[in-house]
Amino acid sequence: MKIILLGPPGAGKGTQAQFIKESLGIPQISTGDMLRAAVSSGSELGERVKAVMDSGSLVSDEIIIDLVKARIAESDCSRGFLFDGFPRTIPQAAAMEHVGVPIDAVIEIQADDEELVRRITGRRVHPASGRVYHVVYSPPKQPDLDDETGDALVQREDDTEATVRDRLAVYYAQTQPLVDFYRDQAGLEYIEIDGRGEVQAIKAAIAQSLDQLSSQA
Ligand code: AP5
Repeated sequence: MKIILLGPPGAGKGTQAQFIKESLGIPQISTGDMLRAAVSSGSELGERVKAVMDSGSLVSDEIIIDLVKARIAESDCSRGFLFDGFPRTIPQAAAMEHVGVPIDAVIEIQADDEELVRRITGRRVHPASGRVYHVVYSPPKQPDLDDETGDALVQREDDTEATVRDRLAVYYAQTQPLVDFYRDQAGLEYIEIDGRGEVQAIKAAIAQSLDQLSSQA
């Protein structure tokens, strides 16, 4: 199955992607994670994208489309994949159509801006594993330390309040048009999820929608 997780920064895409990829046995393709890995490795690509990411703007479509095309050609994507944070612009979505990648479902997770700001400014991550915490909503057992390794947790450079508000503006201007792009597309299931509740309740709502989709297939 080929699925897109769509939603503003902090909606819970990464959190829910962990559950979906495990239940469906498909890889999660997070363009944000791929770009952060490039930045940490100090590669030429990382140097080109770091300032753009830190400012909350979008990396160019050309870079992103090349990255994703290479990733979906890998063997673990043969049974499908879960896009997390991609596509983010109409040209990115059109590029997938152009290379003949039919999407089965789009899951849009919605939440209001003030909740998104609270979630993002409180987020702490363990870069090595990708584990995500929140200082209030899902705190680590020991403050600022990863539960499994005891490593120090970090705050992403783009998770300050000012940058989150810029990222939200970018989302509404450049990514939200994808809602109309996909909502009425034939052959594709468009699933709207209220992302304001507890993580487990949202997980259950997504699982139920995906079960219905599999039973129709
Ligand atoms: P990216 O990493 O994709 O960031 P994002 O879309 O802004 O999404 P986030 O990771 O911030 O949020 P999320 O929805 O995954 O939330 P999470 O589950 O972590 O992109 C970063 C940057 O890379 C972009 O700004 C851009 O520069 C570049 N980029 C990436 N892809 C690109 C593309 N395709 N094109 C161009 N540029 C691109 O949850 C957030 C917090 O809330 C966590 O602390 C979590 O514990 C907590 N939480 C989650 N769910 C709940 C809940 N239900 N209740 C309470 N707390 C919750």
